[in-house]
Amino acid sequence: MEIAPSILTADFTRLGQVMDDSVTAGISWIHLDIMDGNWVVNKTITFGPAVIKSIRKHVGSEVFLDCHLMVTNAEDTWKQYADAGVDLVIAHVEAVEDFKGLAAALHDYGIQAGMVFNPATPVEEVLPHLSYLDLVLVMSVVPGKGGQSFMPEVESKVRALRTAIEAQKAGGGRATKIMIDGGIKAHNIAQVRDWGVEVAVIGSGLINDNSSIAENLAEIHAAL
Ligand code: DX5
Ligand code: ZN
Repeated sequence: MEIAPSILTADFTRLGQVMDDSVTAGISWIHLDIMDGNWVVNKTITFGPAVIKSIRKHVGSEVFLDCHLMVTNAEDTWKQYADAGVDLVIAHVEAVEDFKGLAAALHDYGIQAGMVFNPATPVEEVLPHLSYLDLVLVMSVVPGKGGQSFMPEVESKVRALRTAIEAQKAGGGRATKIMIDGGIKAHNIAQVRDWGVEVAVIGSGLINDNSSIAENLAEIHAAL
């Protein structure tokens, strides 16, 4: 199972060190949470393309970067994130009018397309899009901040996605990946893997004041 750190709980004056510690611990995927001060319920701002550009320069080409766009205008701004160096843009189904068009534009530009949906959004809104998605991200908290509690009721959504993706693959279609984001820690990582999740975003469970990234990651791997 792939572990992708979310850097929201990091000390932003020490981001380079956080990247280095993550890579040294064995991380090869980093999740970048973009909030525009408008779209998330708590109206907060995180960081943008300029910071991503510095991160890409720092980590080099070996680390896979995704950006989780919690913004109102992903269809107008995705190219800024692509040009900053992300490999995958993940946009919210609730915030995009023409998702098929957005995914085609991302693919034409040479990067991957992902769809994310909120805890309140039914999985039926995602299933019709699967054939052209490289990844689906299931939100297991209401987006807006790190450190919230995991919502176990997303199990049925993950299982429905897993069933649909296995059918798609059997028909020669895309191997769309399933990612989960919010409240993942050592105590629930094996459970979400068993539901069919392949990539887990982990923020506060990896980057916190109690122990190092390496120690936290070792605990997570031991639980798997
Ligand atoms: C929530 C973000 C998440 C979050 C994960 O809006 O999308 O990526 O920071 O943090 P934890 O693992 O602390 O829930
Ligand atoms: Zn996220």
